[in-house]
Amino acid sequence: MSEYVIAIDQGTTSSRAIVFDHAGDIVSTGQMEHQQIFPNAGWVEHDATEIWNNVREVIAVALAGGNLTRHDIVAVGITNQRETTVIWDKHTGVPVYNAIVWQDTRTQDIVEELSADGGVDRYKQRVGLPLAPYFSGTKIKWILDNVEGVRARAEAGDLLFGNTDTWVTWNLTGGTDGGVHITDVTNASRTLFMDLETLQWDAQILADFGVPASMMPAIKSSSEVYGHVHSSQLLREVPIAGILGDQQAATFGQAAFEAGEAKNTYGTGCFLIFNTGTEIVRSTNGLLTTLGYKLGDAAPVYALEGSIAVAGSLVQWLRDSIGMISSAAEVEVLASKVKDNGGVYIVPAFSGLFAPYWRADARGAIVGLTRYANKNHIARAALESTAFQTREVLDAVNADSGVPLTELKVDGGMVANDGLMQFQADLLGVPVIRPKVTETTALGAAYAAGLAVGFWKDLGELGANWSEDKRWEPLMEPAERDRQMRLWKKAVTRTFDWVD
Ligand code: G3P
Repeated sequence: MSEYVIAIDQGTTSSRAIVFDHAGDIVSTGQMEHQQIFPNAGWVEHDATEIWNNVREVIAVALAGGNLTRHDIVAVGITNQRETTVIWDKHTGVPVYNAIVWQDTRTQDIVEELSADGGVDRYKQRVGLPLAPYFSGTKIKWILDNVEGVRARAEAGDLLFGNTDTWVTWNLTGGTDGGVHITDVTNASRTLFMDLETLQWDAQILADFGVPASMMPAIKSSSEVYGHVHSSQLLREVPIAGILGDQQAATFGQAAFEAGEAKNTYGTGCFLIFNTGTEIVRSTNGLLTTLGYKLGDAAPVYALEGSIAVAGSLVQWLRDSIGMISSAAEVEVLASKVKDNGGVYIVPAFSGLFAPYWRADARGAIVGLTRYANKNHIARAALESTAFQTREVLDAVNADSGVPLTELKVDGGMVANDGLMQFQADLLGVPVIRPKVTETTALGAAYAAGLAVGFWKDLGELGANWSEDKRWEPLMEPAERDRQMRLWKKAVTRTFDWVD
């Protein structure tokens, strides 16, 4: 009988379950999108109960698609959109408010209040992050401060916090009937509350934010048996054995296990992670210090991260909010009808700007418009914006590490786009490489879970599964590359200071 690992990828736009075999190949998949809720400008929410229902459904679809039962599955791995904040009642399992999504900027006032004493970097030495609306901590505080009755319930010990990894794990392991309340180090490193050295919650920071420690999940490694799926669920009794935030999971799935290796994932947002090994490197160039992974009792592996808030979601915006295209794939068709961007630049600062700027006061802009510009140029500029942002992040990585990257491994939905990947290589001046299995996020979570139960024996075995599918070499003249970057940076400055 063959054995498999199932990964649950609870992402920003959809939840997926993917079954992998021992070679790291996909056997079957289930996927469901969930509603994006935009109650006010800058606010983004999800319905956590809808997400949990979808997770159950996609597990069923993936098992049925592979003609599998729980007896074929040796472990469950979980990966997730990071930072997105769920708070729920541990006695009823009911969330007290919609999940506040990582893209949400409503907590800027909280950031200003907390940074009045010591600036936005006041906790950076301890937690690796600047104060910013992006991270869970400010979102937890917002719910405690603004949703009626919630603070008292939290202080009474009735409420639990989690990112969606914690929410899914708690529910899968039984919810109100003994669900385990845990997270892994990679997710914990996105809250603003975890000390990078001790890998524990920092009591002083929790107190500064007014967050009761009783709400916080126990911090575990990324690869160990946390518990078993509850008897009421399809996968009953299967061990849950791996958790990694989605960007760290993609890094793991790309087999970037060693210091100096990196990957860039083009999803809803775009996130470049650079492995720094067991060393904690503090960025002086606008990157985050984050956990890469921790396998059981082994030493933690750290990383630098360049986070870009808007990538694929700009294409979705053109489709859903502007109606310029009817499917995401159409953007490539339009973009390829013109030889260049016609002088048009889009800076999609929908959630302010993340790395390397960290400007919550920025708002999106389309600049360089002339009567010549048409929708093909806009489509092209939309795609190019992700490549420009990636170049800025790569410059920051090179500056922080002192050793320039000589190639970039890529994955995520947008890497199917040949024109974009060529432009990316052109702008970076180094080759861009796509692996055969581009579902690296789910694969990474499967690997973490499979390692914990002995399905895979070590990192060497995982590394051997990685193989190259395609590589794009840089073709653009350096002078043209420099001109493009100059214009892009000028466009970025036009988005600053836009919030009254
Ligand atoms: O930090 C947010 C990130 O985890 C979301 O990733 O894949 O939805 O762009 P993605």
